[in-house]
Amino acid sequence: MPGDKSISHRALILGALADGLSRVRGILDAEDVRSTAGVLRALGAEIPELSSNMSVTGHGLRGLRTPKAALDCGNSGTTTRLMAGVVAAHPFSARFTGDPSLSKRPMKRVAEPLSYMGARFQFERGDGLPMTITGSDLRSVDWDTRSASAQVKSAILLAGLVSQVEVRVTERSPSRDHTERMLRSMGVDVENDGNQVCLRPASHLTPVDVDVPADPSSAAFFVALAVLANKGELELEDVCLNPTRTGFLRAMEQMGANISVRDRSTSGGEEIGTLVARPSALKNLQISERDVPSLIDELPLLACVAAGAGVELEITGAAELRVKESDRISTVVQNLRSVGASAEELPDGLRVRRVARALSGTIDPRADHRIAMAFGILSAATGNQITVLNPECVAVSYPSFWKDLRRVVA
Ligand code: S3P
Repeated sequence: MPGDKSISHRALILGALADGLSRVRGILDAEDVRSTAGVLRALGAEIPELSSNMSVTGHGLRGLRTPKAALDCGNSGTTTRLMAGVVAAHPFSARFTGDPSLSKRPMKRVAEPLSYMGARFQFERGDGLPMTITGSDLRSVDWDTRSASAQVKSAILLAGLVSQVEVRVTERSPSRDHTERMLRSMGVDVENDGNQVCLRPASHLTPVDVDVPADPSSAAFFVALAVLANKGELELEDVCLNPTRTGFLRAMEQMGANISVRDRSTSGGEEIGTLVARPSALKNLQISERDVPSLIDELPLLACVAAGAGVELEITGAAELRVKESDRISTVVQNLRSVGASAEELPDGLRVRRVARALSGTIDPRADHRIAMAFGILSAATGNQITVLNPECVAVSYPSFWKDLRRVVA
C-alpha cells in the first residue's frame, strides 16, 4: 500500500520548519504531496524529488522566503489549508492558486481564525482560490471550529507554532491528529484533551525520522474488494491504525465484514498493523454525524460496498461531503443510479437501497480520485461491469491503483 497522504504532507511541512535534517521513509509520491513539495520549494525550502528514502533540510520556524510566483496547490485542500497557516505567520504576501475543483472549495474556514490572529486575506471570487495571504506576527487564539476538520485545526496549530504563541482549538468531535503526534515527536508541547487541542510556544522543531505507514484510506479500497469477493483473502501490511482514521474498518465490521488485525505495533507515534480481509455476507448499516470524521474520505466507498453487497445504507451528518474534491453526495448517488443501483441524496448524506442485481454501465468520477477508485472496486466485484471515465485522476492520492487492482484480481 502507498504511504499515508496526511502524514506525507505533514512530514514535508514540519521537516521544512525544523532545525536541520529530517529523514522521511515511505513518503507517498502522488500529485497532492507533490503540490505540497512544490509550494514549499516556491517558498525557498530545500525539498528534493520525492523518493522512498529522502531527507528534508529545515531552516527553522522562520526560514521560508517571499515566493517569486503564485503557490500552485493543484487539487490539494490539505496543501492549501495547512500552508495557509504557515504563510499567515510569515512577514510576506503569497497568492495561492489551484485547479478548478480546488478553486471551488471553501477557504473561509481557515481565513476566519487566521484573520482573527492577525493575517490578512484577499479573495478574488467568493471564498475560494485564488487567495492572497499577507502574514505577520500573529496573536494567540482560542478557536472553536464548530466542526471536525483536521485541516482547519492544523492551520491554526501551524500558525501558532511559527508565531510562537499559544493556540487552543476546540472541535465538535476529534478529527485526525497526525499534526499533533508529529509535533510532539519533534519536541513541541501539544496537549489533546477530548475535543480540545492546546499548543504551547516552542523555540524550535527538532528534526525527526518519519516512517510513513500505509494509507488506511487507500487500504480501504482493497479491504472492500476482499469483503465483496467470493473467495480468497487479502493481507495489507503496515497500515496506519490511528483511531481517528479507522472508522471505515469499524463500519465494515458492524456490517458483518470479516476483518482482522495482526502484528500491531507503533512507528513514529502512529499505531500500525497488518489487515486481513476475507469475503463476508454483509448487512444494513446507518452512519450518523458522530461516526463521520473517522471515515469521511471512505464514505463514497462505503456507499459502493452497500450497493455491491445489495444491502441498505443510510449516511447522515455528512454535509462536508458536498465540499470535497467533488460534491461527493451527488457524484456517488448519480453514478450509482447510472449503473443500476438504487440511491438517493439527502441534504447531509445519502441512502442506498437494496438491489440484488449485477451493476453495469459507465460512471463519470468528475475528476475525483476517491470516486474513481470506489467505482473501480465495485467494477472488480464479481458480476459487475463498470467503465470508469478519466481513470487517471487517481494520481492525486494513489497513482498505481489500477495496476495494483489488476494484480490483486488476477
Ligand atoms: C485531511 C483532512 C480531511 C480529509 C482530507 C485530508 C488532512 O479534511 O478529508 O482528505 O490531511 O488533514 P477536513 O479536515 O477538511 O475534514
